[in-house]
Amino acid sequence: MSDTIQIHDKEFKIFIPSEYIEDEVKSLAQKLEKEYQEKNPIFLVVLNGAFMFAADLLKNYSKSCDISFIKLSSYQGMNSSGKVEVGINFSIDVENRHVIIVEDIVDTGLTIQELKHQLKNNNPASIEVCTLLFKPEAFRGIEPPKFQGFVISNTFVLGYGLDYNERGRNLKDLYQLKE
Ligand code: IMP
Repeated sequence: MSDTIQIHDKEFKIFIPSEYIEDEVKSLAQKLEKEYQEKNPIFLVVLNGAFMFAADLLKNYSKSCDISFIKLSSYQGMNSSGKVEVGINFSIDVENRHVIIVEDIVDTGLTIQELKHQLKNNNPASIEVCTLLFKPEAFRGIEPPKFQGFVISNTFVLGYGLDYNERGRNLKDLYQLKE
């Protein structure tokens, strides 16, 4: 594990090593099991960033559940464009189901706000958000995520699924922009 890495034009330093991430993900899975018990929830994984988090989270979730994926996008480089686009077909049947949106990071909160808004039209029993990372200083939404892993400062991070212009998603540790 190297302490500093170069991705495109920027330097990043180690932020959260994989062992800490593993522990936090296990603890989140336990909280979810306790909360949902035999309710058979649908995990709705927001691609691309949440792919690694979702895989680890769901390996540690031992109760019955469904898993679905959705592709949304609001980010260009290091800034949120403020507009959220719903990518692939939005045809998951969530009626009377408990939905857990799985996000890598909640930043402005616009992505989950838009997704929740669209899901509500389909009468789910409940909608909650489970995110590995939460940036409260950047948050402009109404309701903070119910299940939060690490609460972090408003600095760009990468690794463990999160990218900087598509690079860095494969890193098992989390890195932070070196300022
Ligand atoms: P939001 O809509 O502003 O909450 O942004 C959510 C999405 O933006 C996340 O799913 C990420 O894909 C991306 N994002 C937000 N902050 C970061 C970051 O620090 N690094 C990499 N991607 C980020």
